[in-house]
Amino acid sequence: MEAMNFCPMLPVPEKLTSGEVHVYRLTGIRFAPWQSGTAHLSPIARARAARFYREEDRARFVTVRTVLRRLLAAYLGIAPDAVTFVYGLQGKPALASAWESESLHFNVSYSRDVAVLVFARERQVGIDVECIREIPEVMELAARFFAPEESAALSALPDGARTQGFFNCWTRKEAFIKALGDGLHYPLDRFVVTLHPDRPAALLSVKGDAGGALRWHLRALDLGPGYAAALVVERGADCILRPWHLALSPDAGGGLRFEALSVGWRV
Ligand SMILES: CC(C)(COP(=O)(O)OP(=O)(O)OC[C@H]1O[C@@H](n2cnc3c(N)ncnc32)[C@H](O)[C@@H]1OP(=O)(O)O)[C@@H](O)C(=O)NCCC(=O)NCCS
Repeated sequence: MEAMNFCPMLPVPEKLTSGEVHVYRLTGIRFAPWQSGTAHLSPIARARAARFYREEDRARFVTVRTVLRRLLAAYLGIAPDAVTFVYGLQGKPALASAWESESLHFNVSYSRDVAVLVFARERQVGIDVECIREIPEVMELAARFFAPEESAALSALPDGARTQGFFNCWTRKEAFIKALGDGLHYPLDRFVVTLHPDRPAALLSVKGDAGGALRWHLRALDLGPGYAAALVVERGADCILRPWHLALSPDAGGGLRFEALSVGWRV
């Protein structure tokens, strides 16, 4: 598929000011047949796309990367092909230095048929979504990955709430390390998040860094049943969160269209 057929009508979001954080929920990302074209991606992303074993994973990667490129282009007021990325030591993508003065930060996550993207100026951001599924060895995984305080909180939950609690914790931890950009090099037991399904999301403490938890704002994102999602935003001047929903679907010509934009969803 030609680049020009992909998202031909991607509406430009409103201006992103330093007082806003824009969050997108992207649905319908697994329509494999019309996503096979990668001409619009960078050589690095094309090489990455070629390495996926499963077509649906490849298609999802191509779609999300393409939408990311289009949204960044819209924010920067440039052509999508002009957007170039650099990668942190642990793989976090960022805009290349040519756009350093824009201070535009972003992060992306996907699980099954849903992706979430976040954009902000002058503050680091991290986002994570996971499809909630039964995990038989949930307490063993918690003991391995979570802080002791989190494992104890998970163990105190009633059986019926434990899976939700586990994914609350997982997505909140992932969103935090993604905001830092350190990936799994950052010890997961060095910080503590809340996980109780009926209590607010929060970063409670960062071990060895008394003010650490105060530098970040953590919140859960409500993507509806079956998903857990979290967002971490570096604190700074007051800002508001603006949610958007982009629903992708194939058009009659085998291209792609957005069914809706700026339909708020609960955050
Ligand atoms: C790579 C990692 C940052 C997230 O991986 P993930 O949860 O599998 O994937 P997600 O869908 O949430 O995010 C992927 C996106 O994050 C971004 N990303 C990659 N490396 C990143 C980093 N170091 N920091 C922040 N963002 C990163 C990229 O945009 C990537 O998209 P792409 O694959 O299209 O390039 C890393 O944390 C990881 O490998 N996690 C494994 C999961 C795990 O064991 N978690 C334990 C939690 S308790």
